[in-house]
Amino acid sequence: IVVQVHKPQAVIQPNMWGVFFEDINLAADGGLYAELVKNRSFEFNAPMMGWKELKKEGSSAASLVVNRSAVDDNNPRFIRVKINDEKDAYGLQNEGFRGMGIHQGEQYNFSVWANASAGKNMRLRLELINEQGKEIGNASLSLDGNKWKKYAVSFPSNATAEKAKLNVWIEGTGTLDLDMISLFPQHTWKERPGGLRADLVQLLADLKPGFIRFPGGCIVEGKELVNRYQWKKTVGNVEDRKLIINRWNNEFAHRSTPDYFQSFGLGFFEYFQLAEDIGARPLPILNCGMACQFNSAEVVAVEEIDPYIQDALDLIEFANGGTESKWGKLRADMGHPAPFNLQMMGVGNEQWGSQYVERYKLFAKAIKQKYPSIQLVNSVGPFPDGDLFNFLNDTLRSLHADILDEHYYRSPEWFLQQAKRYDSYDRNGPSIFAGEYAAHTKLTDEAIKKNNWQSALAEAAFMTGLERNADVVKMASYAPLFAHAEGWQWAPDLIWFNNLKSYGTPDYYVQKLYTNNVGTRVVPALMNNAVIGGADSLYASASINENSHELIIKIANVSAVKKTKNIVADGLKKLPKEISVTMLASDNVAGVNSFDQPENIKPAQVTVVPSKNLIPLKMKPYSFYVLRMKM
Ligand code: AHR
Repeated sequence: IVVQVHKPQAVIQPNMWGVFFEDINLAADGGLYAELVKNRSFEFNAPMMGWKELKKEGSSAASLVVNRSAVDDNNPRFIRVKINDEKDAYGLQNEGFRGMGIHQGEQYNFSVWANASAGKNMRLRLELINEQGKEIGNASLSLDGNKWKKYAVSFPSNATAEKAKLNVWIEGTGTLDLDMISLFPQHTWKERPGGLRADLVQLLADLKPGFIRFPGGCIVEGKELVNRYQWKKTVGNVEDRKLIINRWNNEFAHRSTPDYFQSFGLGFFEYFQLAEDIGARPLPILNCGMACQFNSAEVVAVEEIDPYIQDALDLIEFANGGTESKWGKLRADMGHPAPFNLQMMGVGNEQWGSQYVERYKLFAKAIKQKYPSIQLVNSVGPFPDGDLFNFLNDTLRSLHADILDEHYYRSPEWFLQQAKRYDSYDRNGPSIFAGEYAAHTKLTDEAIKKNNWQSALAEAAFMTGLERNADVVKMASYAPLFAHAEGWQWAPDLIWFNNLKSYGTPDYYVQKLYTNNVGTRVVPALMNNAVIGGADSLYASASINENSHELIIKIANVSAVKKTKNIVADGLKKLPKEISVTMLASDNVAGVNSFDQPENIKPAQVTVVPSKNLIPLKMKPYSFYVLRMKM
């Protein structure tokens, strides 16, 4: 293998490798958003979903869900509890999202909006109970005042439970109104109150992703337009963010998720903040006036598309505008006066057909006119080849689109075959964003397409082709990112979690080896004078990092046999005495990571000693190596 260090080629975008976030598989509510109470403001379609009444036999205490949508359409419901007699104990139990994950010794922050004006000596007694019904934390709260008011109390837990529940006992007499009943762990990412689950964000931060695409995925589109993602409804006070049904609610037969809604506690401000926290460029994708074409053919008439376009323009103002502008001021009021430095945005997710082109043109015209430097990402549909793809690909290219967003969920074999996909792409046309991809292995008897070593290795091999073509492929992200082990609709996924734990799949470690080993320029890596894209079951790419003065070589062996290759680094004056190499390998292509063995397949360091001007690399069967050396 010859690596031509002296022949630098394409520039590699520093932000090339990113992540794709979508609220699918309980990724937001029940996942990244650390709220533990499900249906905290009784806005799910069935108002008491997630809640159970607790009362003594014979008690006349009762509750009613009151609808005030005529005066508050964003937060239309609250619960009214009536207790006639002090002795009539009455409680509300919340089951959390597949239970509540509670950690021993951790502090929990409870808060509630209450109106106790029609009650006497009203107070709340809180109990966290574990799976056996044993109390593992408690607190009490006196309610006073004569109007709606927010109350809060913090208390510790004395035990760990994966599926705890919260009992809210109401004491006193008279009528008490309650809303936004909430419980958060005190320890969140950056210790922000009402913030994000720290272990999950840490897994993202460790990736050091170049960008984060949000909020999806099909969720952008909605099954119907009324339930499309509208960013303006996700910013401002959390109480005022209007809940909607999640597009993935009860999707697919193999898992029942009828309780999947979007509270938008994780909204656009939080997404931008998250991007900033983890050093990733924000890449929002907006609805283009079309609902999800897999479900409906609903589109907004082109004559009525202006509000959709206005949303896009206003989002740019929200992210980048001065604090004197309407939307820039909201950003500042929410705690971030400095701009978020938005540079690109997607118009539509997986859309296809001429109706997309019609709408995209209107968006592009308006956005480019007002914000010429904003780069637009355009969908070329969910099919990586065929007529639908070809039509959009040709049309968008003729319209000089900036970035084409290609998606592929295909077999590991497809990924290997496509490692040279971009070698022949037009160098002068739009850039490519491999916006959603994952190798899907065959269904197992558990009906889960596993994130196993076979899928991860195929992706590692394919990604050498993305890197080699960095002049065309400017960005790439695996999808989807997160899945709750008991609330998923879609598999495979990069990171799995339950209420207490999380782990990265082998595919996660492949991503990490790319995101943590980014060069600045591609250099040729050749075998028999040809790019290494499958010959002898090897796939390779090489780059130099002109800032750190390093040569980085990535090489995958997808065969069942070990291989030894001598690598010559042409143009490198002297090889180091020893080269530290990162290896990701497993003899078992069906090998997986799991909650019990989260690091079954993870990178390991090995040392290679060069001999004269050769780097002898001994590759295990089914292995991926990253070599990094000073130049
Ligand atoms: O990643 C899951 C789904 O796959 C996304 O929502 C959609 O864009 C694609 O079809």
